[in-house]
Parts: sequence; C-alpha cells; structure tokens
Amino acid sequence: MAEKSALPVNVGIIMDGNGRWAKKRLLPRSAGHDAGMKRIIKLVEYARESGVKYLTLYALSTENLSRPKEELEGLFTLFRKYFEDYAPKLIGENVGVRVIGDISALPADVADKISRVCSRSPSDAPFTVVFAVNYGSRAEIVRAANFAAELGGKVTEKSFAKLLYTADIPDPDLIIRTGGEIRLSNFLLWQAAYAELYFSDVLFPDFDNKQFDKAIKEFSRRTRRFGKI
Ligand code: FPP
Repeated sequence: MAEKSALPVNVGIIMDGNGRWAKKRLLPRSAGHDAGMKRIIKLVEYARESGVKYLTLYALSTENLSRPKEELEGLFTLFRKYFEDYAPKLIGENVGVRVIGDISALPADVADKISRVCSRSPSDAPFTVVFAVNYGSRAEIVRAANFAAELGGKVTEKSFAKLLYTADIPDPDLIIRTGGEIRLSNFLLWQAAYAELYFSDVLFPDFDNKQFDKAIKEFSRRTRRFGKI
C-alpha cells in the first residue's frame, strides 16, 4: 500500500556549493568550506532535535581527493578540528558518530583521529551522524562484491547490503542536494533505490534550519509507493 511518510528516518545531504559561496564573496574556496563546517554543526543539532534518526553527510567524495593540494589541506584541517572539538562532545551526549568510506587514503593523523573517535560511538544512540569521507558508491559496491566473492555462495540483496559500509544503517528516505546541480554524484547509489530526492538551489553554507524544514515538509507530502500501486 502507498505510504505517506511524515518524518524520514535517514536524511542524506550532498553538501554542494561551498566554493561558489566563497567566490560570490571574493573569498578563497577554503572560506566556503569553513562556512560549510559551521553549517554542519548547526544542522547536526537541528536534525537531532527534529526527530530524524540519522543524518548522512557527503563530506568528501573519492573524486574530491584529486582537488588541489591546498584545498585538500584546508579540508583536512577542518576534519581534524571537527573530530577533535565537536565529534567527542556529541558522543558524550550519546549521539552516534560514524564514518563510511576509505579513510586509509587520508593523512595518517586524520584517519587515526577519525577512527579513534568513531570507535567510541554509542551503539544504541537515538541519533547518529554519518560522514561519508573518501566515499564513492561504485567503489563501495565493488568492495562488497569482492567480499562476496571471497565468501562464496549465493548472493541475495539482503546479504549483499550487509557487505556495504552502511550494513547496519537504514537506507536514506530523503536525499537533499544543495547548490543547484541535479545529480547524485556517486552518493549512496545502492541505498538510494527508493529515496525521495530533493534538489535545492541554495548553496550549502546558506542551507539553514528553515531550508532543512522545507525539505522535510516536501518529503512528508510525497507518497512513497516502493514500486507498488
Ligand atoms: C562541495 O562544495 C563540498 C565539499 C567538497 C566539501 C564538504 C565539506 C564541508 C562542508 C566542510 C568540512 C566537513 C567536515 C565534516 C568537517 P564545492 O567546493 O564542490 O562547491 P562548488 O561546487 O561551489 O565549487
């Protein structure tokens, strides 16, 4: 039966537009990422209060890793800061902090900090923020396919999903992309099979709580049929 869903359990956000936000202000791209991190801090708090259970943020794609060294260094500095100053505080408040993606390609101290923080993430948290870092959906699927080949035997959708980074994370119900582009850019392709998609022209640093509410409202108006009539 068709289902009207009030609140998504897992909201994914493709956080696009930091560079353009900075350019409009004649600032370096790094200023856009700084503003993006400030926005993340606010949205995490707001999503937590709003009653969604997971917020999945596309923080760095595998493709982003080929950006100029200077921009990457700026992003790594932000990761260091976030996982030093903010993530431990969230964990202290029983918020889950998880990372999906191949963090082994990051500078060793960043990867180490991230995995140490995430290892303390509570398993029974009522709200979890999931960062996709050096994440690419195709790479994730190929990785899972290799695990499946090693294990042998028949593969089912259910058994395959258990081999993805998101094994114990519910599929996103709603995926928001900020910044005006209308594509998924290798984000949660398997998991997004039945996600509602919401595209906003607002650049990520300007995507405030009101914009988040607007997306949730639009989601609640959609009728989800999951392939049925
Ligand atoms: C896309 O905007 C955004 C990114 C590649 C990085 C996202 C990172 C943050 C929001 C801050 C750091 C994150 C954490 C978890 C501390 P873009 O630069 O591609 O924008 P553009 O399309 O306007 O150039």
